Amino acid sequence: MSIESQTYDELVEISQRYPEKRSGLLPMLHLVQSASGQVTAEGIKACAEILEISEAEVSGVATFYTMYKRRPVGDYHVGVCTNTLCAVMGGDLIFERLKDHLDVGNDETADGRPGDSATISLEHIECNAACDYAPVMMVNWEFLDNQTPESAVSVVDDLRAGKPVHSTRGPKLVTWKEAERVLAGFNDGLADEGPSAGPASLVGLKIARENSWTAPASNAAGTATAVADTKQAAVEQADTSRAESETLAEES
Ligand code: FES
Repeated sequence: MSIESQTYDELVEISQRYPEKRSGLLPMLHLVQSASGQVTAEGIKACAEILEISEAEVSGVATFYTMYKRRPVGDYHVGVCTNTLCAVMGGDLIFERLKDHLDVGNDETADGRPGDSATISLEHIECNAACDYAPVMMVNWEFLDNQTPESAVSVVDDLRAGKPVHSTRGPKLVTWKEAERVLAGFNDGLADEGPSAGPASLVGLKIARENSWTAPASNAAGTATAVADTKQAAVEQADTSRAESETLAEES
């Protein structure tokens, strides 16, 4: 399958976002996955051509990171965290239950059944840095917190039936191809859907407030109320402000 001209143009567009165009390789590979469902030989060739590097170099990156798939995944790729904390909190049980329910092994796609609206693939994944919500699973890289074997089965059944499912800390789940386009840096307008941080992640902030603890002044970021003078500082300040306002909303 060849790369469509619109996809090729968008790959070029991504490469032009960076002073060193090869820095665009990771989002470019996500765009290839968005267009083709997986990293294809044609996608690797296009990336190499645009970035003026070898196909072996592109392939080396695509095979190093597990988020890049060399064979098709389902419309919804379900990752169950089986790292230590999630495992002892039930992640292993969830993974086993889903393997049985979907009749698949690790990194496999379940057969579509007559009447299904979507296909599901399953993978066990390492720590998602969401241990405060263990056991956690992800669907197309959106979090589903505090899962149980029963809730996990319900999620995949709803997805197969075409029912809307919402991430616990994000937007309504979108398909693999749609999610991959966002990872390539194309905004789907859903970034502000759902809470950005849940109560468990904000406990430290709450305790600090109750005890009037403050962070030491930093030359780089200035005080919490300082006007950010760099783009990065503005992003960090905006994230903090949003988390703090959500804490206030919860407290009121
Ligand atoms: S161990 Fe599962 S999110 Fe950290």
